[in-house]
Amino acid sequence: MKTALTPARFRTLILNWFDQHGRKLLPWQINKTPYRVWLSEIMLQQTQVNTVIPYFLRFLQQFPDLRSLASAHEDAVLHLWAGLGYYSRARNLHRAAQWLTQHSAGEFPDEIDKLIAIPGIGPSTAGAISALAFNKRATILDGNVKRVLARLHGIRTPINEKKTEKALWDIAENYTPNKRIADYTQAMMDLGATCCTRANPTCTTCPLKQHCVAYDLGIVNKLPAKKATKTLPIKQATFVILKKGEAVLLQKRPSSGIWGGLWSLPEIVGKPNKKKVRAFCLDQFQLSIADFKSLSSFRHTFTHYHLDIFPVLVTLQTKLPKKVDDQLQIWYNPEHPEPIGLPKPIQTIMRQFYDPAHPLRKIKQRSRGARTTSPTGRTR
Ligand code: ADE
Repeated sequence: MKTALTPARFRTLILNWFDQHGRKLLPWQINKTPYRVWLSEIMLQQTQVNTVIPYFLRFLQQFPDLRSLASAHEDAVLHLWAGLGYYSRARNLHRAAQWLTQHSAGEFPDEIDKLIAIPGIGPSTAGAISALAFNKRATILDGNVKRVLARLHGIRTPINEKKTEKALWDIAENYTPNKRIADYTQAMMDLGATCCTRANPTCTTCPLKQHCVAYDLGIVNKLPAKKATKTLPIKQATFVILKKGEAVLLQKRPSSGIWGGLWSLPEIVGKPNKKKVRAFCLDQFQLSIADFKSLSSFRHTFTHYHLDIFPVLVTLQTKLPKKVDDQLQIWYNPEHPEPIGLPKPIQTIMRQFYDPAHPLRKIKQRSRGARTTSPTGRTR
């Protein structure tokens, strides 16, 4: 006969599992400080541990504490974030560091309400920081924990619906212990990340197996259920490469919107054609183009759409301006790169362009009526 799963039993099972299988030597678990925990939790939003580790270590080397981060230039922060995606996380982190040094004497609050007021910190991240950094009782409900609890309780309503989320918060709060809160919190994350995984979960080793409704009913792979998502729309953009010697013209993107605050190539909506590229260069830079070459195109996928990217290298009739407005435009030399944030697809284009061994290096000479290459694949 099954024993009932009381909150006390649940905690015991989870903590015993943590003692044997939990992760205890992740970089942010060593020399724990609120700053390091905060940084790791922000980086770990929507991103896996293995991806985060090198970014976390590099970031800490340059910005070991709140004050060094607060006094940094935004470009330096975005540079260290480049490739990790969701760049508003980096901008929020930077703004929050400045706010905390000015208004809170560089001290991190340990109360949930105050943590949630910090840009980029939602209820689950606030719970994680409170529990992991301050050992204060708090509940978390990130994607991993939602999956564990939805399976355990056989919750079939879509996980991304408000009422499901509310039900899961209630369950999570009911299980949250008063003691060993940091270990318990880490255990819940680790169980979801290493055992109760989205695909191919290893149920036979799960401490909750005996109590798991989804396991019992053979529907583990069906849960958590999701509201049907629409297929992503496809957009197209032309990225213009204007060269001066070895340097390429980059423009700083506005803070809001995709790649906010990062440096990108001048962009034209849609696929390239000579008329459009010519009109764009005239209008934006007062430059007449002689011709352009299409580099291999590729697809980059954002949360809400696919972007098919068509890089074009222009050759000019007119001479380049000596100076550019250095607030919003720079000549960037990939051979001697400055520490600024470049979105991953722009890094890909630079590599394609400068690395002769790059597999995408396939520059097509455009002749009248020639087609650009078709999108090849995803970058992430
Ligand atoms: N995901 C979010 N926070 C985490 C943490 N502290 N350890 C491992 N995975 C996590």
